[in-house]
Amino acid sequence: MFNKRVKIKELLSWEPKEQEVTVMGWVRTFRNNQFIALNDGSTNNNLQVVTELGKFDESLLKRITTSASLKVRGIVIPSLGKGQKLEVKATTIEILGDSDAEKYPLQPKKHSLEFLREIAHLRFRTNTFGSVFRIRHSLAFAVHKFFNDKGFVYMHTPIITASDAEGAGETFRVTTLPVENAPKNEDGSVNYKEDFFGRATNLTVSGQLEGELGATAFGDIYTFGPTFRAENSNTARHLAEFWMIEPEMAFYDLEDNANLAEEFIKYLIQYAMDNNREDLEFLAQRLAEEEKQLPQDKRSELGLIEKLEFVVNNDFQRLTYTEAIEVLKESSHNKKKKFQYPITGWGMDLQSEHERWLVEKHFKKPVILSNYPAAIKAFYMRQNEDGKTVAAMDILAPGIGEIVGGSQREERLDRLEARMKEMNIPAEELWWYLDTRRFGTVPHAGFGLGFERMVQFVTGMTNIRDVIAFPRTPKSAEF
Ligand code: 4AD
Ligand code: MG
Repeated sequence: MFNKRVKIKELLSWEPKEQEVTVMGWVRTFRNNQFIALNDGSTNNNLQVVTELGKFDESLLKRITTSASLKVRGIVIPSLGKGQKLEVKATTIEILGDSDAEKYPLQPKKHSLEFLREIAHLRFRTNTFGSVFRIRHSLAFAVHKFFNDKGFVYMHTPIITASDAEGAGETFRVTTLPVENAPKNEDGSVNYKEDFFGRATNLTVSGQLEGELGATAFGDIYTFGPTFRAENSNTARHLAEFWMIEPEMAFYDLEDNANLAEEFIKYLIQYAMDNNREDLEFLAQRLAEEEKQLPQDKRSELGLIEKLEFVVNNDFQRLTYTEAIEVLKESSHNKKKKFQYPITGWGMDLQSEHERWLVEKHFKKPVILSNYPAAIKAFYMRQNEDGKTVAAMDILAPGIGEIVGGSQREERLDRLEARMKEMNIPAEELWWYLDTRRFGTVPHAGFGLGFERMVQFVTGMTNIRDVIAFPRTPKSAEF
């Protein structure tokens, strides 16, 4: 058996009593031919391994370079040096893998996040990405815990689908037809009958429609999987491949939906604060450093941890789209024409600058906007009695903008069919979806939380490319 080791995170919590241990990890630095800072990814804190002078061959010591991997056996003793309670006095050192320090791209110094994106295969070995991805893991675990504890069924919805749930036409085609020489119909269009599935298919943009099928049997379900959007948005908040959590609940109205979403977001934040304190403190420090580069008025009023505490301890601001338009229209920001897109009035789609102004400058807390104009929302949202709006809700978070999108669903068959017709959504293709409205339809609702935006919010990372291991964005699919 090889893996008889103690993880460094655990070891660092011990009282040093000359325990014999085996540790394995990668060298961060090797100082004075005597002090190895060893990291195994369980924490940002390195273990100090001490090589007594004269005990090890010069030829071995030479191979202890930054990023070389080691297996060390030794004794845990109190540390004489400052900065750590204990250290391991090495009795044997085995080099598992050498590393040419000259060629290793990650030098022990500060690298920019942009540079680290180019070496995303190695960036987990930095403190910043160590912290971010341990927190990402924790949040994913917390997602399952939250819903499992509430009796939701985790449903795996398909990745390949024939529908465009959001109807936004931003899908990636899935095909085995030859690109150069695809079989054609008489009118010159591609003949997808010849394709693998005998029809046109694409990567899913959302598991919602299938999720609704589950909710109308199990009551409460959630999905948590990758979704794909071919939107050409090169922003710090958009990915072409991102993970989404989509709960769907029978017997829920819009208010129930908003309550669950608010509780869920607070739960995730609290979970990270309870389980990832050390990493959050590291990232809070990092963010504070980063913000020092910004002009005073661009800096956050609260530090990362204070911000998270504030969000957990305060109610989200709830208002309707119509009220939000009023607030925006009357704002001095708008009157002084400081929005790039001026507030033209009711019916307009909100731009991210409007959302961010509402959240960051006006209410200074997360905002739940509801009851949007039907014309700017998807076909499945429940039509309100005013004949103009639908029972939609978006949650907007400081520094992020939209983090959740959801709605009560149109459960009335005739209303739904009428809306689909208006929006040119082919009812024949969605016959299975409409069946839920034919056989025991119920009021139901759900939402989608963008997982990466949530990770951004908790970690304070400004660019979404830094919270997913290998970002997929326009013109970029390395690794
Ligand atoms: O608002 P969206 O498009 O809603 C839906 O897909 C619904 N079917 C959800 C539902 O009701 N079940 O997307 C939901 C969330 C957004 O609020 C945002 O957080 C995230 O998904 N999102 C993205 N995240 C990263 N990159 C993108 N390109 C994203 N597009 C949406
Ligand atoms: Mg949305």
